[in-house]
Amino acid sequence: MAIIAPSLLASNFLRLEDECKMINESEADWLHLDVMDGRFVPNISFGLPVIEHIRTATTKTLDVHLMIEEPEKYAAAFAKAGANILTVHIEVCRNLHSNIQQIKALGMKAGVALNPHTPIHLLVDIIEDIHLVNLMSVNPGFGGQTFIPYTLEKIKQLKRLINDRNLSVDIEIDGGVTLANAATIIAAGATVLVAGNTVFKSANPIQTISSLKNL
Ligand code: DX5
Ligand code: ZN
Repeated sequence: MAIIAPSLLASNFLRLEDECKMINESEADWLHLDVMDGRFVPNISFGLPVIEHIRTATTKTLDVHLMIEEPEKYAAAFAKAGANILTVHIEVCRNLHSNIQQIKALGMKAGVALNPHTPIHLLVDIIEDIHLVNLMSVNPGFGGQTFIPYTLEKIKQLKRLINDRNLSVDIEIDGGVTLANAATIIAAGATVLVAGNTVFKSANPIQTISSLKNL
């Protein structure tokens, strides 16, 4: 069974409390929170004050995906806001090892995200230090895009790297996950499915989460 992480980006921002209640009642394991700065990605989403409030409305694991430059400047603030997992993009971290140590020292699990064009082999010297790899299966910045099929090949490469070292690092797939492709993604080796539009825009989000969970 995969870990299911609905992405709040696709929710109704006018009704965040209700959306959190729905998540609480569902079989979702984590809540995925996409933070964008308008610099690393061409979009701006939400930030610290919103996450602080989300924290009070749910006990689910808060899986914070930072699509921002200079994430080291904000790691402590995200820990304080209640993040349980903090993921930074490899493309923006010139001192990735120290960024990861900082996240872990703050008491959070550490993740590294890779854009669709970023090769798996860049992880060989950091994989032993992290809890999670977020493989972007769309270009970051927007929900509702189509899954890039080559991601399946990257999942297999990453799984090989993790197994060769006898590690238990989560493989999170982010973008374009649907009820139609989720089983194939899990079969390739994914352990965490992020789903924004598939969950929040469905007629019955609780049922959709359950369907993803029980594939
Ligand atoms: C995109 C975000 C994703 C997004 C996924 O930059 O990282 O988490 O919310 O949305 P869907 O599932 O709708 O593709
Ligand atoms: Zn994300």
